[in-house]
Amino acid sequence: PGTIEIAPSLLSADFSCLAEEVSDVENSGVKIIHLDIMDGHFVPNITIGPPVVSSLRKTSDLCFDAHLMISQPQRYIKDFANAGADHITFHIEAEGDPRDTIAMIEEAGCSAGICIKPATSPEEVLEIASLCRMILVMTVEPGFGGQVFREKCAEKCAFLRETLGKDLRIEVDGGINEQTAGKAGQLGADTLVAGSAVFGSRNRREAIEKIADSAIK
Ligand code: DX5
Ligand code: ZN
Repeated sequence: PGTIEIAPSLLSADFSCLAEEVSDVENSGVKIIHLDIMDGHFVPNITIGPPVVSSLRKTSDLCFDAHLMISQPQRYIKDFANAGADHITFHIEAEGDPRDTIAMIEEAGCSAGICIKPATSPEEVLEIASLCRMILVMTVEPGFGGQVFREKCAEKCAFLRETLGKDLRIEVDGGINEQTAGKAGQLGADTLVAGSAVFGSRNRREAIEKIADSAIK
């Protein structure tokens, strides 16, 4: 695994002042911000679209890690790339040939990631994993922040790490906090998304540091 990165998820931020929320975590030393994009179809929730991403792009130099929880990712790749996404992750469970989706993401100038939901076996991404920069392992059912970490899901990270080697980045998403980050790190994850644990804390720097400390133990 590479160096541990904490990627705060904007989903738990105050949506009335997103730019300030982004700059707060940017000033706390993270390199990545995780943007949850939901279409109300692939998951039962709706969040933000390209206009919000493009407005935030003007205010931040962070790596924009867009997690597309949408049924037809191919339709929106260009829009999110043009809006300023750096990395685009889509779900293997979504529509379209994943190889085509990866190619479209790269053509649009972004790095690609593939995500698996709790019920999806990691074997399903083995063949295409080498085409991606990062694999995203959901440790909750996608759709909402603030859910409980599922350790069983995180165990997929160990399998992926063992099978695919150390160069691939493995991201975990869902229920990561000071208590659960250690387990995720031990299992081989090196990019930890944290929404409520970061934005739910008054002191974001402290929250991020605690999660990072726990992850490297
Ligand atoms: C859930 C999203 C997550 C979410 C995580 O569908 O993919 O990124 O924001 O929130 P927490 O860290 O609160 O579980
Ligand atoms: Zn996410």
